[in-house]
Amino acid sequence: MKVAVLGFGTVGFGVYEMLKNAAGLEQGPVLVRPGKKDQPYKVTSIEEIVNDPSVGAVAEVMGGVEPAFSYASAALKAGKHFVTSNKALVAAKGPELDAIAREKGVAFLFSAACGGGVPFLHNLALARESDAILSFGGILNGTTNYMLDAMQRLHLDYADVLADAQRLGYAEADPTADVSGLDALRKIMLACAVACGTLPTDGLLNEGIESVTAADVAHFQSRGYTCRLIASGGRTEDGAYAYVEPVLLRDGAAECAVLQNFNMARYEGGCAGPIVLMGQGAGRWPTASAVLRDLSGILRGEREMFPANLRRGEVDNSACSHSYYVRLPAALAGELPAASAELDGELCRMITEPIPVSQMHFTAARLRESGAPVFFAAVRE
Ligand code: NAP
Ligand code: HSE
Repeated sequence: MKVAVLGFGTVGFGVYEMLKNAAGLEQGPVLVRPGKKDQPYKVTSIEEIVNDPSVGAVAEVMGGVEPAFSYASAALKAGKHFVTSNKALVAAKGPELDAIAREKGVAFLFSAACGGGVPFLHNLALARESDAILSFGGILNGTTNYMLDAMQRLHLDYADVLADAQRLGYAEADPTADVSGLDALRKIMLACAVACGTLPTDGLLNEGIESVTAADVAHFQSRGYTCRLIASGGRTEDGAYAYVEPVLLRDGAAECAVLQNFNMARYEGGCAGPIVLMGQGAGRWPTASAVLRDLSGILRGEREMFPANLRRGEVDNSACSHSYYVRLPAALAGELPAASAELDGELCRMITEPIPVSQMHFTAARLRESGAPVFFAAVRE
């Protein structure tokens, strides 16, 4: 099967190279921007791919919702299998693409959109056929894991570790999505859709690591905690919950051993119990390997990751609550119920009583609106 590649950046180059040696797959044309055609195999218009009868599958690794959605729709309508690493595209337009693929009888697969090289969605899709998936999530962003790990183990500053993650090809073109938790949120949306058949639209909560400081990290470390950005999702009685936030874990917890750009994805099956998958969550070769896994899957007859009954819907986080570590101006310490608090100059570092996740996220947003610097992380003992 000849595979066209849309985008020739970090992942695109990796996919094109891996196609050289992949059984049953063949390098096809590569879409680049006008002005960047420096090789005969590169093309600058999607029509050259869509109208090429020798192309059997299209791998989109450009990023963004448009023109990726238009290109994906055109490829699927032309009867070509479509695989992507683009979680922004699948979170925004997955149901539409799934519907076209089913109508045309071609594949729409997106393993690489969640977990980098870790076969998380692939395994969730298999598991849901025979078991009820009760919960899912974990460390799903390689950039922030790399940053938090380097801040803790190497005592580096936020700006330096972010620059390193960009240089290493882990971060998005605009790293705001990584550090704000949006990238991990899109991934938990996809996991929710694959596991429960609901692609969440409303009710989602996400907190990233933008406001963490070297002093915060030193504080957690001195008290025996490690910070990780964790996505959480699962079934409720009549729907699903899904949110992303930093979590403080007691040293020795499994997540503390997840270093550098690694991810740790997990799900719990009603019969299988907990299953954990760990590997590189970002970077050229791990991600390209996931794209190739989908392409090889097509040769074996794999066609879809979403369940047939996929719908968009709200999530309900109201039953979720934890204690939180909160660093905020001392004058605002009364805004949250403290179980314990330490003053650090003008700052207060507190551990709250258990409170609803939504109360913590909304309180932080309100305090930030008035200019207050706030960092929070759930505490898991
Ligand atoms: P990247 O290095 O920025 O590469 C994207 C490439 O696509 C760039 O060469 C870009 O060209 C090109 N491109 C963008 N729009 C285009 C268009 N309209 N026509 C032709 N070419 C276009 O990004 P990446 O890291 O490879 O990521 C690609 C996708 O994979 C994203 O959706 C990302 O979220 C996802 N992903 C990345 C990783 C990772 O570790 N990097 C892991 C998993 C998933 P310009 O540079 O000229 O804009
Ligand atoms: N920017 C993403 C991350 C790429 O760091 O996890 C992998 O999806």
